[in-house]
Amino acid sequence: MKFFVDTADVKDIRELNDLGLVDGVTTNPSLILKSGGNIIDVTKEICSIVKGPVSAEVTATDYAGMMKEAAVLAKIADNICIKLPVTLDGLKACKALTSDGHETNLTLCFSANQALLAAKAGATYISPFIGRLDDIGLNGMDLIGEIRTIFDNYDFETQILAASIRTVNHVKEAALIGADVITAPPATLKALVKHPLTDKGLEAFLADWAKTGQSIA
Ligand code: G3P
Repeated sequence: MKFFVDTADVKDIRELNDLGLVDGVTTNPSLILKSGGNIIDVTKEICSIVKGPVSAEVTATDYAGMMKEAAVLAKIADNICIKLPVTLDGLKACKALTSDGHETNLTLCFSANQALLAAKAGATYISPFIGRLDDIGLNGMDLIGEIRTIFDNYDFETQILAASIRTVNHVKEAALIGADVITAPPATLKALVKHPLTDKGLEAFLADWAKTGQSIA
């Protein structure tokens, strides 16, 4: 399973990348706003830090506008993945960009049928939003399971990129179901390592070690 970090915060990306936890990055207009930077500058810096795909999202809603913006975004770096909404225009742009050899990430997916359309359009990634489905009283993780079954039924190569991940349990459940990628905020990725028994055990080992009076190096 690949780990993408869902942020445009360069400091966080650098820290997680140094930890070896970043296989790619996903951004969106809200995350660019939060970063306080210019989309081109921020995305360029992210692409220089991370080797894997960096999703940069178009903001046009019509096919021609999406293609124009995609051309600008694609020029930023070789590892740009063009992020498009799952709409009819987004699907059309996805097909054209995929044929041109670009990676694509179809975002704002809330149904299995939308994922099916993205796969048929040749999307590299489909991003079902788990947390936002949970927010309206549904079980977002059920959608990941449905998409996994459909993609496996037909050997679709589109990768399931579980997005809107809010908790460490989301990560575990997505991994159990077989999502290809999760994208999560930096704090969620870092929280994966936490367990109270690890902290307690380490504390006890260190206390006993101090009593031996030894040192290793
Ligand atoms: O990758 C999509 C993600 O940014 C959405 O997350 O928490 O805003 O629903 P959230």
